Amino acid sequence: MRGTTMTDIGLFEAMYSARALRRLRRDPVPDEIITQILDAAIRAPSAGNAQPWTFLVVRDPEVRRQLGLVYRKASDIASAMYAARGRPPHTTEEQHQRMMASGAHLWEHMGEAPVLLLPCLRDRPTPPREVLPPEVQALYGQELAYIDRIRGASIYPAVQNIILACRAFGLGTVITTNHIRCEDEVKALLGIPHDVFTYALMPIGYPEGKFGPVTRRPVNEVAHRDRWGAAWPV
Ligand SMILES: Cc1cc2nc3c(=O)[nH]c(=O)nc-3n(C[C@H](O)[C@H](O)[C@H](O)COP(=O)(O)O)c2cc1C
Repeated sequence: MRGTTMTDIGLFEAMYSARALRRLRRDPVPDEIITQILDAAIRAPSAGNAQPWTFLVVRDPEVRRQLGLVYRKASDIASAMYAARGRPPHTTEEQHQRMMASGAHLWEHMGEAPVLLLPCLRDRPTPPREVLPPEVQALYGQELAYIDRIRGASIYPAVQNIILACRAFGLGTVITTNHIRCEDEVKALLGIPHDVFTYALMPIGYPEGKFGPVTRRPVNEVAHRDRWGAAWPV
């Protein structure tokens, strides 16, 4: 699907330049573009192809303002956690300070992004223990832990599609999760049902800064060959 305002960008160029953009202009983003971004989001995989997602697009200025206040409140906890954790060893002090300053900017300005997008998932009821064969009943606790472990994997591929689709439209965004610390308030504000949960809060808007390049630890530091500890590439 191609929109008229989509830039002709290669997939790899998009992946290598879709950095976290937190300083966004207030200029409106057309509904049609958001629809196309969501149409890319729903191409993502989900466990059992259940597609248990809902994407909440918040445009109303007052609702955005209130969401921004919840994000601000949750960020106080995040700020303490970041300070206690310190800088990841692979980033320079300058890179870390830049990320912290950009993050702090968003604490104050989340509600001003023209679009706030919340990718949500409905909890799928787990089959009750008694309907399962005895050998699976014996592993029921493990199964619940497994379900818990993979839950987010049915929405975060869609989130990455959103990031890349935004990049193709020249829109800035960033995956944020801080608000989950105050999720009850978010759910009450947006009327989200009790069995639906928000997995990200993504501000979307035309960026003040530039895209990319995305810098990461190199492959030879993070990949192993055949078994843990052997270098890839050799
Ligand atoms: C699971 C997850 C949670 C995140 N939560 C937040 C957040 O709450 N606030 C924020 O500003 N950025 C958040 N980020 C964005 C990261 O800080 C960002 O992806 C990282 O610094 C890399 O940025 P870069 O692509 O510009 O190098 C989150 C990213 C991930 C993957």
